[in-house]
Amino acid sequence: MSTGNGPTTPPSPASAIATTIKPTDLRGILTYVPRFQGQIFIIAIDGSIVADENFSNLLVDIAVLRSLAIKVVIAHGISQQLEELSTMRKIPISNADGTGVTDAATLDLATRASSRVSHLLVEGLTQNGLKCATTNAVRALPLGIIKGVDQQFTSKVERIDKDFLGELIDRHVVPIVSPIAFGPDGKALRVNSDLLAAELAEALHATKIIYLTPQEGLEIDGKVRREISVDALRKLLETEPARIAEAGFSKATHAVKAIETGTPRVHILDGRIFDGLLNEVFSSEGVGSLVYGNDYQQIRKARKADVRQIYNLTRNAVRREELIHRTQQAIEKNIDQFFVFEIDENIIACVTLYFYPDKPQTAEIGSLYVMPFYHHRGIGKKMVDYACMIAKERGATTTIAVSTQSFGFFSNVCGFEETTKEILPEARLKLYEDSGRNAKVLVKRLG
Ligand SMILES: CC(C)(COP(=O)(O)OP(=O)(O)OC[C@H]1O[C@@H](n2cnc3c(N)ncnc32)[C@H](O)[C@@H]1OP(=O)(O)O)[C@@H](O)C(=O)NCCC(=O)NCCS
Repeated sequence: MSTGNGPTTPPSPASAIATTIKPTDLRGILTYVPRFQGQIFIIAIDGSIVADENFSNLLVDIAVLRSLAIKVVIAHGISQQLEELSTMRKIPISNADGTGVTDAATLDLATRASSRVSHLLVEGLTQNGLKCATTNAVRALPLGIIKGVDQQFTSKVERIDKDFLGELIDRHVVPIVSPIAFGPDGKALRVNSDLLAAELAEALHATKIIYLTPQEGLEIDGKVRREISVDALRKLLETEPARIAEAGFSKATHAVKAIETGTPRVHILDGRIFDGLLNEVFSSEGVGSLVYGNDYQQIRKARKADVRQIYNLTRNAVRREELIHRTQQAIEKNIDQFFVFEIDENIIACVTLYFYPDKPQTAEIGSLYVMPFYHHRGIGKKMVDYACMIAKERGATTTIAVSTQSFGFFSNVCGFEETTKEILPEARLKLYEDSGRNAKVLVKRLG
């Protein structure tokens, strides 16, 4: 690292890739700062990267991210340290990365390896003036018996204590989350660290996962792919998995899972590259692989089978008078107007688009609702933008929103302007008057 107070180890010999921006290029970095400020990045560091000579530089990069008000959560792996311990102590292990069987001896070595790696992280962050804390925020359940084989102490994430992690983050503490989780009885269980990062990202509404690995990026057909959409990667995993290099397979699988559960972007990059992390975050080219989601991929037209979920979803908003009451029958009758946003096959947001029969170039956006747990992640805006896009595709030139409590959202976030009720066609104006809600009417011209 060329600036700052941190260690100045020269670049690792493994870093064959030339970096494209210098951290001193503040002007370049500053263009990204407003976009990332306040966002949560999950930095998932493989055990082998903690052991690499570039590790100290990486910690300086993390300190730079923190100084730019980017919130960082660190998840780490332990495979390399576990294998080393196994060789040193001559104790065979049943699996190194937390995906196969973890027997008692392996779990014992894994907890020791994990303590060592967590300590190295705490030490390194301390040297860079950062407050950090190792945590017990991950509750897990044993995987049980799979295809007749007892996975023993290998587990899946049951719950992440997001309030606890959120408090640490709010206090400017970097949480360190190890791949040793805790079961319902408080006893240690092994979790795969790639999975852990994806689960953390979902629970904390992170905007990025950055996997730091000993590979240059995600290799497909023997070549590093700089960018790939989640749809293309999912298809490859399902139909031609052999085209993906084995070393990147777990990260590819978890990148897809993370994006499907709401994390917009996943980076897979070589943690041995000097300045690699800063380059990936603060330059348009990046140095690793980026897996990106399609902005609207989680939105689809509603179906009859969704009626009950939509009704239950919007009930609270109706109680608070944010939305007009609609019976299940009314929702079913107008199901063609609904679009829903799905995460893990659960509907977490909805919106309607209605074309006025007597004013076909104008469409009304209504019944917009996002489940509170998912607020402030851009889903509301995405739903409105999507509805506007569909309206335009179907020939509308104007969209209208009628709102009692969220008019600020439509004007400040979605680019609508306040107008008068007279813009409404006659039949709709009568309904408006009859409702007595005195809602504000907003309009957006579709350019
Ligand atoms: C309004 C609503 C759809 C926004 O959903 P969301 O997914 O959180 O929205 P986004 O993440 O795209 O945008 C969030 C931004 O919207 C703005 N915003 C949200 N609600 C707002 C409101 N009532 N008034 C003004 N601005 C608002 C905030 O600036 C917020 O920014 P922040 O995250 O920095 O705090 C959601 O709060 C909701 O479902 N509310 C209840 C139902 C409702 O009122 N629907 C509108 C009926 S017409």
